[in-house]
Amino acid sequence: MPKLAPDPWAIQFDGEGRLKHLLTIEGLGPDWITRILDTAESFLSVTGREVKKVPLLRGRTVVNLFFESSTRTRTTFELAAKRLSADVLNLNISTSAATKGESLLDTLRNIEAMQADMFVVRHDKSGAAHFIARHVAPHVSVLNAGDGRHAHPTQALLDVFTIRKLKGDFTKLRVAIVGDILHSRVARSQIHALNTLNTGEVRVIAPRTLLPAQVEKLGVRVFHDMREGLKDVDVIIMLRLQRERMEGALLPSEDEFFRLYGLTPEKLAWAKPDAIVMHPGPANRGVEIDSEVADGPQSVILQQVSNGIAVRMAVMSLCMGAREE
Ligand code: NCD
Repeated sequence: MPKLAPDPWAIQFDGEGRLKHLLTIEGLGPDWITRILDTAESFLSVTGREVKKVPLLRGRTVVNLFFESSTRTRTTFELAAKRLSADVLNLNISTSAATKGESLLDTLRNIEAMQADMFVVRHDKSGAAHFIARHVAPHVSVLNAGDGRHAHPTQALLDVFTIRKLKGDFTKLRVAIVGDILHSRVARSQIHALNTLNTGEVRVIAPRTLLPAQVEKLGVRVFHDMREGLKDVDVIIMLRLQRERMEGALLPSEDEFFRLYGLTPEKLAWAKPDAIVMHPGPANRGVEIDSEVADGPQSVILQQVSNGIAVRMAVMSLCMGAREE
């Protein structure tokens, strides 16, 4: 890939400073994040109505371009687009063109020729959504639905939306992100979002083998022990053990991981009594989280999924709005 410009994330905005693509949390700043969360708040009432539709994207075409499998992210993007009255096309490229040798740019040109207005992209290579944003026609918006280990901005936005709704003022909160930080694009985006919103303290809790080098430079406090790391915490975010991204033996065994880091009712008791438990899904019960906790009263995992629709509606309408005003 060619060398990036000095501000690689300026591409997210149009010439007037309006949001056009959402590729990463970096570069958004507190004002844009807050604007997205406030817009999502206004869409929550739509999703609770009997007729769950608003005409904001009527006549627009959104294409879900998924080069890597996904259930909840793709379906919530699809529902978000439909609730905004857009036409939606789902393309699972891993099973079609790519396997027949078509290049990414050829695939893009063909979909553009179908008059698409927005691409929602998931890809196993870091930087893929950014590459696509640099090559699409000027009227097309690109939303990153997860690229390699790099970023998953809408997941982080729905997580901070959920935290804001349930816990309020970020400056007073301690948030712990637990588990496989090394392979997690979700963790990277969450850390950027939480720090942009001035969260009191962001912690990561993991074995050394599952932490990226110099992780503290991202603005987190590092813990290797659950009892110490969970002390006085308001929010616990559990991550999936991303076996498919692991090369070699980073872990002794899943049983050992669960014993040391799996969130059980006993370990949950080390956090504040009103701490909330989050997980981006898909959760591996008995590996990083015990069923009793995943289904327990402190779990907000299903609220995260519902909030994800409103947050994705907000991002889609703001990015499309950039071209209308
Ligand atoms: C995450 C992802 O795909 O990055 N899941 C999701 O978006 N719902 C996290 C994961 O796969 O563990």
